[in-house]
Amino acid sequence: MKEDFKIRRFHKDDAAAVSKLSAAIPELNPWPLSVYECVQEAGFEGWIADCNGTIAGFVLTRCVSDEMEILKLGTAQDFRRRGVAAALLTAAFLGAVSGGARRAFLEVRASNAPAISLYQTAGFRPTGRRRNYYTAPVEDALLMTCDLERKTQFPLGG
Ligand SMILES: CC(C)(COP(=O)(O)OP(=O)(O)OC[C@H]1O[C@@H](n2cnc3c(N)ncnc32)[C@H](O)[C@@H]1OP(=O)(O)O)[C@@H](O)C(=O)NCCC(=O)NCCS
Repeated sequence: MKEDFKIRRFHKDDAAAVSKLSAAIPELNPWPLSVYECVQEAGFEGWIADCNGTIAGFVLTRCVSDEMEILKLGTAQDFRRRGVAAALLTAAFLGAVSGGARRAFLEVRASNAPAISLYQTAGFRPTGRRRNYYTAPVEDALLMTCDLERKTQFPLGG
C-alpha cells in the first residue's frame, strides 16, 4: 500500500523522534537534538510523513532568496519504496515555490545510489562535484540542482 501515511508540517514536538530516526539512518550525518529543537527558530522548513503517529520519514529544507536547499531527507527502513520521500519532496517543492523559490539544490554522497536515483526521478540533475566534501569516510559530494520553474508535476516528471 502506498498511501498509508500523511504529510504534515514538522513541529517542535517532533524533534526527539526525528533526531532518533536520523541517528538510525547511517547515510545521514545527524545533528544534535538541540538543532532539531530549533528548526523553526533557525528559519528551516520541515515536513513529516506520519503513519498513525509513527514518523515514517522527514525532510528539512532552508529557503534563501529564490533558492531552496534540501538539508536532510530520510525514510525509516520499514517504510522505504512506498513513496514517502517522493511525497515529502512534493510538500517541500510546493512550499518553496509558494514562497518564491525558483531553484532547489542539495549535496549527496557520490556513492549514495538510492538517493541519487530518487533525486533524478524528482527532477534534480548533477551540476557539480565537491572533492572530499564528506568525512568518515572521505568522499566527494555531488551537487544536484532542480529548476522549479520548469516543473509541471511534483515531484516526478515535469
Ligand atoms: C533515499 C531515500 C530517502 C528514499 O526514500 P523512499 O521513501 O524509500 O523513496 P520513495 O519510495 O519515495 O522512492 C521514490 C523513487 O525514488 C527512487 N528510489 C528510491 N529508493 C531507491 C533505491 N533504493 N534504488 C533505486 N531507486 C530508488 C525510485 O525511482 C522510486 O520510485 P519507485 O519506488 O516507484 O521505483 C531512502 O532510501 C533513505 O532514507 N536513505 C537514507 C538517507 C539518505 O540517503 N538521504 C539522502 C541524503 S542526501
